Amino acid sequence: KKVVLAYSGGLDTSVIIPWLKEHYGCEVIAVAANVGQGDFELEGLEEKAIKTGASKCYIEDLTKEFVEDFIVPTLKAGAVYEGKYLLGTSFARPIIAKRLVEIAKKEGADAIVHGCTGKGNDQVRFELTIKAFAPTMDIIAPWRFWELDSREKEIAYAEEHNIPLKINRETNYSKDKNLWHLSHEGLDLEDPANEPLYDQILEMGVTPEKAPDVPTYVTIGFDKGTPVSVDGVKMTPVEILTKLNELGGANGVGIVDMVENRLVGMKSRGVYETPGGSILYFAHQSLEEICLDKETQHYKMQMAIKFSELVYNGLWYTPLREAMSAFVDSTQQTVTGEVKLKLYKGNIMNAGMTSPYSLYSEEIATFGEDNVYDQADSAGFINLFGLPLKVKALLDEKKIK
Ligand code: ARG
Ligand code: SIN
Repeated sequence: KKVVLAYSGGLDTSVIIPWLKEHYGCEVIAVAANVGQGDFELEGLEEKAIKTGASKCYIEDLTKEFVEDFIVPTLKAGAVYEGKYLLGTSFARPIIAKRLVEIAKKEGADAIVHGCTGKGNDQVRFELTIKAFAPTMDIIAPWRFWELDSREKEIAYAEEHNIPLKINRETNYSKDKNLWHLSHEGLDLEDPANEPLYDQILEMGVTPEKAPDVPTYVTIGFDKGTPVSVDGVKMTPVEILTKLNELGGANGVGIVDMVENRLVGMKSRGVYETPGGSILYFAHQSLEEICLDKETQHYKMQMAIKFSELVYNGLWYTPLREAMSAFVDSTQQTVTGEVKLKLYKGNIMNAGMTSPYSLYSEEIATFGEDNVYDQADSAGFINLFGLPLKVKALLDEKKIK
């Protein structure tokens, strides 16, 4: 028996290796995905996997694909879950799961193992993607049946089995990190009455209070909805996100504290850090304000809600999500231009934008003199637009008499 394990080196997946060996006696191949979580998370991972009993450890660099094929399409769609969550964990799961399947097939593995709990969204996202690419693959999810049914018990097990952990009991938040975001759940956050202990938990940036007293200006260039430059310098999406994470983090931008509705029915409270992502969403939406016609813009906003639900619920690899992305791409043909922003103590503010495709006409909108808009047209327009109101009011008058 041979299994492929989705491995991060975090508490759950570290404990799973010896636990699998103890209970199944199977060969464990660990697969870690680099989705831009940084050196600290990846350092010593292979050594640790082998030391704790894995026969092999793959470390797959998926960062570029993650940003270009998952983040950018979601950014273009403008998808935000429940108006606040920029989906940082949600779209990382399908790309990781797809690679797990590829390795499981190559290795001739009998099953794929993951360390998600039975109470969350991640289990669904992993398993739906596995089903999409390996419909008959066995899946083992130890959290659903093992005896280590709390993070405290896991830590005790790790200590007994000499598994080195980078966490301690006090900082034992459930976290998920990649180039787009860092999420925090658990501990004191489980009571929505508590203010988050920001000074202890923030890693990608500072609180607005600690941000500089002078604003930072940044200009982001887009080509067909895809970010292509910062301050006039051409960069790859990965470089842009890395740069904006620095600027956003330093200015206390992109911190979200929310209670969200999980797919499995419960509400859960989390804190998200998405510094660069928040800047990109703000810039992209601003550009759409001048580049999209009203009806397309409004329709797209409605679709963004559905898009966010599909991504959140693990339905990335589905015909509907793919069709929606095709629609979104069609709308992005004119979303090209530059957006200048001011970052200041947690705020993102517009500081000017330009586009060769701008539909904004100063000549038409001006409060000054113009020769293109005949104000006399308004009387007839309002008469027809208001006709249903007038008819109803006339009827009401008759009834009163
Ligand atoms: N609640 C967020 C989501 O469902 C974040 C989940 C974080 N996952 C984790 N394994 N720590 O997308
Ligand atoms: C987990 O429960 O494994 C993490 C949180 C989530 O999946 O929503």
